[in-house]
Amino acid sequence: MFHSMMNLLFFTLFTTSVTIQVFSVDDPVFNDDILGLIVFKAGLQDPNHKLSSWNDDDYTPCNWEGVKCDSSNNRVNSLVLDGFSLSGHIDRGLLRLQYLQILSLSGNNFTGFINPDLPKLGSLEAVDFSDNNLQGSVPEEFFQQCGSLKNVNFAKNNLTGNVPDSLSSCSSLTNVNFSSNQMYGKLPSGVWFLRGLQSFDVSNNLLEGEIVLEGIQNLYGLRELSLRKNRFSGRIPEEIGGCIGLKSLDLSGNFLSGGIPQSMQRLNSCNSISLQENSFTGNIPDWIGEMKGLENLDLSSNRFSGWIPKSLGKLEMLQRLNFSRNQLTGNLPDSMINCTNLLAFDISHNNLDGYLPSWIFTKGNYHGLEVLDLSTNGFSGGIPSGIGGLRSLKLLNMSSNSFYGSVPVRFSLMS
Ligand SMILES: *[C@@H]1O[C@H](CO)[C@@H](O)[C@H](O)[C@H]1NC(C)=O
Ligand SMILES: *[C@@H]1O[C@H](CO)[C@@H](O)[C@H](O)[C@H]1NC(C)=O
Ligand SMILES: *[C@@H]1O[C@H](CO)[C@@H](O)[C@H](O)[C@H]1NC(C)=O
Ligand SMILES: *[C@@H]1O[C@H](CO)[C@@H](O)[C@H](O)[C@H]1NC(C)=O
Ligand SMILES: *[C@@H]1O[C@H](CO)[C@@H](O)[C@H](O)[C@H]1NC(C)=O
Ligand SMILES: *[C@@H]1O[C@H](CO)[C@@H](O)[C@H](O)[C@H]1NC(C)=O
Repeated sequence: MFHSMMNLLFFTLFTTSVTIQVFSVDDPVFNDDILGLIVFKAGLQDPNHKLSSWNDDDYTPCNWEGVKCDSSNNRVNSLVLDGFSLSGHIDRGLLRLQYLQILSLSGNNFTGFINPDLPKLGSLEAVDFSDNNLQGSVPEEFFQQCGSLKNVNFAKNNLTGNVPDSLSSCSSLTNVNFSSNQMYGKLPSGVWFLRGLQSFDVSNNLLEGEIVLEGIQNLYGLRELSLRKNRFSGRIPEEIGGCIGLKSLDLSGNFLSGGIPQSMQRLNSCNSISLQENSFTGNIPDWIGEMKGLENLDLSSNRFSGWIPKSLGKLEMLQRLNFSRNQLTGNLPDSMINCTNLLAFDISHNNLDGYLPSWIFTKGNYHGLEVLDLSTNGFSGGIPSGIGGLRSLKLLNMSSNSFYGSVPVRFSLMS
């Protein structure tokens, strides 16, 4: 009786195209992990024979390619098949791996939908399905009973639908990445109450609405936040300033407007701020100079106006500065002689004027500078001598200014 039930079970698990092997329940070799993995493999195309070591005659799957076991119970706790060129569906067979902690199938050609039952594997901590061809929406049920799930990466698939509301109830989450899909709608408002959140990336989707950050002021562990390339609108909420552990903030490529909120000056652990391609207005605040860890500051393609603040000279770590395509006026502040680590400096397409300060070209000052774009401004006067002192320079663009003398209007130096 039991045997025939088991046979029936195997029949429903295996697809008809597969050799059906009948296991016996009292066979010591029989192991749920082997069964689950063989069922999973049976549904796949494996053009590079990456899974040829997966042999159902084996006593244990622990030496199979991509499989790791917990040495205390010999059960599979990790399945990492990144970049194996596998295609097919992520089959239910995996639900048999009851001790699975890490499931990583990144960089394959998996298709079909995300199985909502996967996080019910009580030990599952990390799921990485990034860079496949999964479709449909991320099921609401996926996060409803999410056990000890910490890391979820569904980036670079073909997922649609909303970011599920249930995400907010999955309190163990630390890293969430839904980047580069076609997800739409608003972000669930409860996301910022996930106390363990360290990174959150929904860049490159079709998300919309005002950014609501209620709760984020308590997320001291949040280091990386990217809402890049979506359709978010409205202002940056003041709550952002409470997120004091933030290292990287990327809000570029949205429809955001208003000024840079005052509270952002509290983000002094930040290395990178990208606000480019929005409709921000107002001045670049003086306090920006207090964000001493900044290595990348990109405010390009907005409507910022006023002078470049003197305080910028305090940003000695700065490597990439992009203020291109705004409405900035005045000259470059002399303090910038102290930004000696600059690699790329783009202030093109503004209304800057005056003589170019000679320190820009002072030998040994901007020793690493690779890109200097001053084009389309109102700079005048002669080109400072010492222009050849910038040894690392790969691109220099001074076109569309009012320089006089026999100066090349536009040129680039390729090293
Ligand atoms: C996915 O499949 C396509 C066509 O079948 C193939 O050209 C491509 O190389 C595959 N990609 C990977 C990552 O295996
Ligand atoms: C992604 O989905 C769209 C619409 O559902 C479809 O037209 C497109 O072919 C899919 N792309 C891939 C790479 O699967
Ligand atoms: C999210 O995934 C994309 C694609 O794999 C990657 O480029 C990006 O760095 C990831 N984001 C975070 C915060 O790790
Ligand atoms: C500065 O930003 C503009 C667009 O916002 C971009 O086209 C340009 O390449 C960037 N400059 C540098 C040096 O990265
Ligand atoms: C550059 O930094 C030094 C040392 O911090 C400081 O004394 C000097 O005034 C700064 N130069 C300018 C032009 O701000
Ligand atoms: C220099 O800047 C001008 C005007 O901004 C632009 O048209 C040109 O393509 C740039 N040249 C190079 C080599 O980047």
